[in-house]
Amino acid sequence: MENHLPPPVPSPLESIDDVIATLAAYQYIADRGLATAIYLALRRHKPLLLEGEPGVGKTEVARVLARALDTRLIRLQCYEGIDQATAVYDWNYARQLLYIRATERARESTGDGREGTAHVGDVFGPEFLIRRPLLDALDAAHERAPVLLIDELDRSDAEFEAYLLELLSDYAITIPELGTLRAECPPIVVLTSNRTRDIHDALRRRCFYYWIEYPTLEKEYAIVRARVPEAREVLARQVVAFVQALRGEDLYKAPGVAETLDWLGALVTLGHIELTEAGARDALGALLKYQDDLQKATSGNLLGKLVEKVRTTLSQP
Ligand SMILES: Nc1ncnc2c1ncn2[C@@H]1O[C@H](COP(=O)(O)OP(=O)(O)O)[C@@H](O)[C@H]1O
Ligand SMILES: [Mg+2]
Repeated sequence: MENHLPPPVPSPLESIDDVIATLAAYQYIADRGLATAIYLALRRHKPLLLEGEPGVGKTEVARVLARALDTRLIRLQCYEGIDQATAVYDWNYARQLLYIRATERARESTGDGREGTAHVGDVFGPEFLIRRPLLDALDAAHERAPVLLIDELDRSDAEFEAYLLELLSDYAITIPELGTLRAECPPIVVLTSNRTRDIHDALRRRCFYYWIEYPTLEKEYAIVRARVPEAREVLARQVVAFVQALRGEDLYKAPGVAETLDWLGALVTLGHIELTEAGARDALGALLKYQDDLQKATSGNLLGKLVEKVRTTLSQP
């Protein structure tokens, strides 16, 4: 018998080109390599592990993906010492205590003196559970897979990573008092790392991996146009060329895309329509965040030379 089901709702991410176009609609510029990684991770239901220097757009991938897929973003920010109680679930001890006291009082007042305590099992029910991001993301009640962002995984320790590995292999969480909860719609998982330490092979193996490089000149220009549309074209071009050149210098902390955007924004706020040495200097705190780097840029006229170079290169036809 013919089955007259309605056609499947078209997903906006049906091909690599779709990924590029859809993310661009949300002001995220993905090159083909990254778009392919996203496409494959989605298609093959694998977590996406993104590594790269700070500020190259790792976290933003998850944010934009959630918006593009019109689904919830659940974020777990990792840090040293993160554990199950802060990442998965905890019991609401205060509420449990109140419940036990109230039950005792009720029993006393009704003269029911059989036993002065509440039943222990009563306070380990779902209403006393504090749901943390990982439990939230696996919650079977979601009718649509959320995007689960596990951000800056390199900040957590190996123990937590081992726990994650287990979670990402069967998308289930066991709470001894309540049983095992398995995700009906496994979340779309994006993990990021700034590589302050190495993520273990076992976890890498579970994931689709992509290293986000600093953007090329063309890509960074496209990002800047998308994110700071109010900036003059000349200024935008000069700023991008300047930052690209600056990254080639020996700095303690090279500026990421976030800093480029911030610097350009600051220059626009100061009313600049072209890059000048004085303007660059005034807004430099948006671009460089370490005293050593600021000193390096301002002493010995590095700043002046770079501004000059950018202006002459770009004024040539
Ligand atoms: N490819 C990109 N397209 C659009 N914006 C980008 C891109 N890469 C970085 N950005 C911007 O730069 C900022 C930093 O990105 P973020 O994702 O926080 O970096 P990371 O997580 O790698 O440190 C964000 O505000 C984001 O808007
Ligand atoms: Mg980040």
